[in-house]
Amino acid sequence: MTARGGFQLVRLGAAMHGSGHRRRARSRTIADLTRRTGYAVAMVLRPETASDTLAIRALVSAAFHDAPHATGTEADIVDTLRDDGALTISPVCTVADEVVGHVAFSPVVVGCAAEGWFGLGPVAVQPEYRGQGIGQRLIEAGLGSLRERGAGGCVVLGDPAYYRRFGFAADPAIVLAGVPLNTSSP
Ligand SMILES: CC(C)(COP(=O)(O)OP(=O)(O)OC[C@H]1O[C@@H](n2cnc3c(N)ncnc32)[C@H](O)[C@@H]1OP(=O)(O)O)[C@@H](O)C(=O)NCCC(=O)NCCS
Repeated sequence: MTARGGFQLVRLGAAMHGSGHRRRARSRTIADLTRRTGYAVAMVLRPETASDTLAIRALVSAAFHDAPHATGTEADIVDTLRDDGALTISPVCTVADEVVGHVAFSPVVVGCAAEGWFGLGPVAVQPEYRGQGIGQRLIEAGLGSLRERGAGGCVVLGDPAYYRRFGFAADPAIVLAGVPLNTSSP
């Protein structure tokens, strides 16, 4: 099934059911920070820069630390994509200059004909900043950039309950070897 804008969800693999977002760390809201510091604290979305590399690594490691579906390789994946020049779109979200969110988009080969397709992920938000729309803003910004580039489509390996809101839909025609397609929500 093709979704809005041609972007598609392939849910291949373990559900993220019961993952980190339910076991939320002590929440830190932008409004709290503003109140505590007396300064207007803003959430800033921008492309990563060279000086963000270590902060992104720490963020991704922390975000996936307790996630049951984590492989422990997520931070390495981001570094490898960057080293290979394949981190095509890599926005970060900062709050008070701290990197609290990141998402990676990199080129993927889908079938033999598709050109200009990208894979979304990993996406990571610092546990104490979850549930404030940071993940959503990062993903929407990345998808917007893909559309501007005229991308053919985007695939993601993840939970439909989360990714459906961005217009992704399962497509039985797109599978990843060794991973079952599961289109239902947990
Ligand atoms: C997934 C993640 C990036 C979401 O970041 P976030 O900033 O909290 O997301 P948002 O604030 O934009 O969205 C929150 C919403 O997503 C839902 N959500 C978050 N993770 C979810 C999941 N795994 N399954 C289903 N829904 C999920 C929340 O319940 C919330 O729902 P609501 O809007 O109805 O209240 C963050 O939880 C995270 O870093 N998790 C650990 C790493 C991970 O699992 N990454 C995704 C796999 S690559």
